[in-house]
Amino acid sequence: MQPIEATHTPNPADYYDGVPDYLVDIYDWAYVNPRHVRLLDRPAVVKTLLFGQDNRLMRRYLERIRSGSRVWQVAHVYGDLVQRAAGRVGPHGAFHLTDIAPAQLEQADAKLGGIPWARVMRADAAHFGSEGRYDLVCSFFLLHEVPEETKRAVVDNMLAHLTDDGEAVFVDYHRPAPWQPIGWLLRLVNAWLEPFAHAMWQHEIRVYASHADDYQWRKSTLFGGVYQCVIAQRKNAA
Ligand SMILES: C[S@@+](CC[C@H](N)C(=O)[O-])C[C@H]1O[C@@H](n2cnc3c(N)ncnc32)[C@H](O)[C@@H]1O
Repeated sequence: MQPIEATHTPNPADYYDGVPDYLVDIYDWAYVNPRHVRLLDRPAVVKTLLFGQDNRLMRRYLERIRSGSRVWQVAHVYGDLVQRAAGRVGPHGAFHLTDIAPAQLEQADAKLGGIPWARVMRADAAHFGSEGRYDLVCSFFLLHEVPEETKRAVVDNMLAHLTDDGEAVFVDYHRPAPWQPIGWLLRLVNAWLEPFAHAMWQHEIRVYASHADDYQWRKSTLFGGVYQCVIAQRKNAA
């Protein structure tokens, strides 16, 4: 799919047009249905979903952003993350945000509309590809929500968009330590609501990259292993 500039979508059917089946089938309530999206898109929801770890997790991404750099965030996130990321980029850089769901794009437009160096584009993160290369590309909790073949395509596409010394940052779920009680809760949530998430417990993110050996992969975990931040950079980076 070619990136399409986000536009206002007044017709209810438009919110479903071009949205992948997995999103409609599994995440309609969260990202596709516009009434639900407007209700859920607030920092308190992110804090609840992330067991109060939202700021720690967001910092792992935000602290990698250099002022004046080019940043691509591959999907929208509830709350104020996108404004904070665009703010760190500043007027001498570029902040590009893509998403595939029109309701989420409307939210992103409302948040970033007044920021001249920010752009919101409709695109599948697996295929987006006409805006050049980026110093930083970030997936914040996207991988666990997409099927395995989409995980592979998204990781490859993110890496393909890096400048020579650019970084890909992945913040997502991870296998919790055996002593972490939240692991048991997440097993239930994954079985009930998040069919693609358990794979994040089983595979390192690098296994989704076709040319993983060309990159250096640095992983850190937090909250008893519930979450991971992985940074990938070309081995020959300057
Ligand atoms: C980043 S993820 C999860 C974010 C997190 N749960 C939060 O707090 O918002 C959710 C977003 O990914 C988007 N998305 C899903 N598949 C996508 C794809 N292939 N390309 C771009 N965006 C995608 C959804 O439309 C949704 O806006």
